Amino acid sequence: MRDMAEVGVREFGSGDLGGAARVLAERHGRHRRRHPLLRGDFEDVEVARVAVTEAWEAEGASGTVAVSGGEVVGYLLGAPKGPVWGPNVWVEAAGVAGRDAEVIRDLYGVAAERWVAEGKTAQYVLVPDDDSLVDAFFRLGFGSQHAHAIRGPFDGEVAVPAGMTVRRAERRDIGVLAELDLVLPKHQGASPVFSAGEVPTVEEAVADWEESVDDPEYATFVAEVNGRVIGSAIGCSLEKSSAHQGLARPDNAGFLGFAAVFPEDRGHGGGRVLGETVLKWCAASGYDSVVTDWRVANLLSSRTWPRLGFVPTFQRLHRLIGY
Ligand SMILES: CC(C)(COP(=O)(O)OP(=O)(O)OC[C@H]1O[C@@H](n2cnc3c(N)ncnc32)[C@H](O)[C@@H]1OP(=O)(O)O)[C@@H](O)C(=O)NCCC(=O)NCCS
Repeated sequence: MRDMAEVGVREFGSGDLGGAARVLAERHGRHRRRHPLLRGDFEDVEVARVAVTEAWEAEGASGTVAVSGGEVVGYLLGAPKGPVWGPNVWVEAAGVAGRDAEVIRDLYGVAAERWVAEGKTAQYVLVPDDDSLVDAFFRLGFGSQHAHAIRGPFDGEVAVPAGMTVRRAERRDIGVLAELDLVLPKHQGASPVFSAGEVPTVEEAVADWEESVDDPEYATFVAEVNGRVIGSAIGCSLEKSSAHQGLARPDNAGFLGFAAVFPEDRGHGGGRVLGETVLKWCAASGYDSVVTDWRVANLLSSRTWPRLGFVPTFQRLHRLIGY
């Protein structure tokens, strides 16, 4: 049994970067044993150090370090993000690691005192799918908000149901693509997700598509039934996504960045066909893996993407303090 008295927790300082990098490199090594498609270089302490330094040097960053016998055994670093996340502090993928789940709880106990005193009551933590780490945060009042997931290259053929076709989107599809753009934020604004993401107007979405429909860096597909578009999906490089950074951005990965099927057309294989078409495009483009993400409370995407072979790698946990 761990002797609590041996571990001291105090504010993080720049002298702790080397020790924190060692703990992060170890954490990433454990994570990669479950997900070999994640980037290998962060197992190197010097590369991990770059990631921890970035977390520490982020504007407004603060946090804590746990030391035992003169050695860093855990750390927690958070920094605020844009206003859509509320009065927030974010712990990014390189912002937390520890050899012991209980140390994580001690680290948070000290760090959160400052965060809450500063009014940062909306708290977000991106953690590997490590049961003991997730459990430590659950026992600190956090819940699961978002999943990041990965899969290897798709090597099959897309099985298109009878009566359905799938093709690249063209300029003539702009009207329907704009309507489909509203489907996801509307769905996620409703129960049980209640996301605060803004729903654009159709006019705004049309204007966006007018500019971007020919962009060669995005592959947009539509599925049709009887000549009517029922859904769309977009593939691109993962580098286009600001939500997947650092340890959570595998090298040379494709990204399933968007998919939507009109409510009345769901449940007939359109989502699978569109998703697999993006997977096939990613394989043909030479990506080594494909990443996607979803709101855990989105009852549709959280069921669809695992069926297409995506395995969760990181979870974003969330705690809202005050009630
Ligand atoms: C996610 C979405 C695109 C899926 O499209 P869909 O046409 O309903 O999906 P499909 O009928 O092709 O089903 C795909 C797979 O997921 C499963 N699935 C889909 N919805 C499900 C549900 N509600 N419950 C259980 N399984 C479900 C299907 O069984 C199927 O698996 P299978 O082929 O192994 O049987 C669609 O539901 C949607 O537009 N949702 C709202 C917007 C959204 O969440 N987009 C995703 C952005 S992250």
